[in-house]
Amino acid sequence: MTRVFSGIKPTGHLTLGNYLGAIRRWADVDQYQSDALFCIVDLHALTVDHDPARVRRLTRQDATLLLATGLDPKLCTVFVQSHVDEHARLSYVLECVATDGEMRRMIQYKEKSARERERGGSVRLSLLTYPALMAADILAYGTDEVPVGDDQAQHVELARDLAVRFNQRYGHTFVVPRTASPRVAARVMNLQEPTSKMGKSDDSGPGIVYLLDEPETVRKKIMRAVTDSGRGVVYDQAEQPGIANLLEILAACTGGDPEALSGEYETYGALKKDTAEAVVEVLRPVQDRHRELCTDPAYVEAVLRDGAERARAMARPTVDAAYRAIGLLPAVAEEAEPNATR
Ligand code: TYM
Repeated sequence: MTRVFSGIKPTGHLTLGNYLGAIRRWADVDQYQSDALFCIVDLHALTVDHDPARVRRLTRQDATLLLATGLDPKLCTVFVQSHVDEHARLSYVLECVATDGEMRRMIQYKEKSARERERGGSVRLSLLTYPALMAADILAYGTDEVPVGDDQAQHVELARDLAVRFNQRYGHTFVVPRTASPRVAARVMNLQEPTSKMGKSDDSGPGIVYLLDEPETVRKKIMRAVTDSGRGVVYDQAEQPGIANLLEILAACTGGDPEALSGEYETYGALKKDTAEAVVEVLRPVQDRHRELCTDPAYVEAVLRDGAERARAMARPTVDAAYRAIGLLPAVAEEAEPNATR
């Protein structure tokens, strides 16, 4: 059975981009068709300036929301990264396989470190080494497929490169993973700035639809989305990014095709109205279930405890094998190997 792994970083409230780009597929497809693990990757939230209490709060909230989107702990494993030591154990080993140059080439590192420097802040070393930890998240589980939005594709590519390099140098240890991106809405853009990604860590509230936004707020944000002056409703990402973004969101919510949908609209207003209603309808069941789950935090905690136990048992053998392959002496005496004198 295909092994699927994906994760979400508790650095802000979950957005429509997170949902359409990744999470919806986890709940609707992956958990049924594969042996899937979904992780709240809290260690990654420490790579930028952070408030400890907020990270804790968002970790709980993300776990609750993931379950609210339909993830069923009987079908998949839901857990928190820091509850399973294997991620950090393997991350260090992969730092010893990666190069400084390939880490510095990562687009997210370049963008985030530049932003931090502009603000006069300092860049944490973990922001640079982040992709090694992400590779560890993936490789520890023998992952075949990583369902993510477009912005994470480069990091998954790096995980592939590290797996191949490790296997060539130290013997076959890791499965080489591949990216799985959605057909539409792989990069949902900010409604106010349609050339930038809708990111949960950004401050621009009016351009971001959050999963827990009230229906009226969703409608307002979408009706006020920036549109392009020009040629009517045309699906053209380069020339009409605002309209293309709305068409992608509508297509993702209704199962349609953005190009075909563009032919159905004469005016921007009508497109916005239908997009807003489609988003409200997609979010409604998630919000209803979230409200229910909030009344039972003990259930969410039990899911996470059980998930961590299962994840630990899955990751341990692979990480132990990687430690042995790279030359680290096992802590517990093993059966003597034929060439034990070496
Ligand atoms: P994160 O937390 O930024 O995002 C979680 C998932 O949501 C997708 N996504 C989007 N998709 C479409 N449009 C958008 N505007 C949008 N914004 C976010 C992301 O592509 C991602 O799939 N480094 C990762 C978390 C991570 C991870 C992993 C993922 C850590 N280890 C191992 C997969 C496997 C991140 O920061 O995602």
